[in-house]
Amino acid sequence: MKNADNEQIANMTNTTNNTFAMDVIKGLQEIPKRLYPKYFYDSEGDKLFQEIMDSPEYYVTDSEMEIFTEQAAELSRQITRADQSFDLIELGPGDCSKTIFLLRQLNKDLISFNYLPIDISPDIIDQLEITLPHEIPGKMIKGYRGEYIEMLEKAIKESSRRKVILCLGANIGNMTKDEAMIFLKEIHDLMGSGDILITGFDLIKHPKTIRNAYDDAAGATSRFNLNLLHRINRELEANFEVSSFEHYCSYEPETGSCKSFLISLKAANVKIGKEQVTFTENEFIWTEISQKYTLRQIEELAYACGFIPSGHLTDSRKWFADTIWIKI
Ligand code: AVJ
Repeated sequence: MKNADNEQIANMTNTTNNTFAMDVIKGLQEIPKRLYPKYFYDSEGDKLFQEIMDSPEYYVTDSEMEIFTEQAAELSRQITRADQSFDLIELGPGDCSKTIFLLRQLNKDLISFNYLPIDISPDIIDQLEITLPHEIPGKMIKGYRGEYIEMLEKAIKESSRRKVILCLGANIGNMTKDEAMIFLKEIHDLMGSGDILITGFDLIKHPKTIRNAYDDAAGATSRFNLNLLHRINRELEANFEVSSFEHYCSYEPETGSCKSFLISLKAANVKIGKEQVTFTENEFIWTEISQKYTLRQIEELAYACGFIPSGHLTDSRKWFADTIWIKI
């Protein structure tokens, strides 16, 4: 039985979780059903993503890390201009473990820059504001807590200095090609002439390598995907029987789309708050896309968004690319 206090807490939770609840209910009422990858990352999801990154099959993080450890000097050379200080703005810095190699290199090269990380998670920004001043002493570090485009607009207005914007980690891959184009155009429109955008793209490679990375043998990806249902149960008063859902991943070489699904192994009626959703046996929920690109497709995307592609860095296996685009 609920007392008045509990009711109030439930209502408050409902308000904070409003967009989450609405997206979940709307997504599960669609045909076919879908949920959004941004909701993977509650604190349990963060831990499971860490497990994925530690799994032997997940090459994405290691590949981009190799670029930053091995080619920071080259990257520094490509983004600096004589006597020009700049603001380095990063969308989704995480723990900064890759970018730190660039920051140290710029420092070593005596480049004058400020670092402005943007993240939806205030914890991430709080943490960086504590740790980074020791790593790059004397540099201005200013974090922004919020949505990428909204905060980017703010950060850009911070000064009239040239901008270098980082969007690493294949996060762009979580968008369909059309969504990625819209997002990159939005960034383009906020930038000034001569500003630089560096984006991380996971490249096309052997289909088995890709599929294994998104279906690792130890099951980290499966737990990561299923955690979304656990999260909905925890936060939205839902009653998914999670053990009757299964992780399924497909990779299609023709389109470069790697997709994750949750398959309902039996017919089910699921309650989500006051709503009800039904599943037929073997019905799927589409939970994630991880789009892969060829270097040529990336170049075409650059032009389509109004940029001039000026170069790219790849790891030694050519599995990942950080591309450098200029707004003219
Ligand atoms: C965080 C979007 C780069 O798509 O490779 C990893 C997330 N999902 N395994 C990716 C993810 C399943 C990851 N990104």
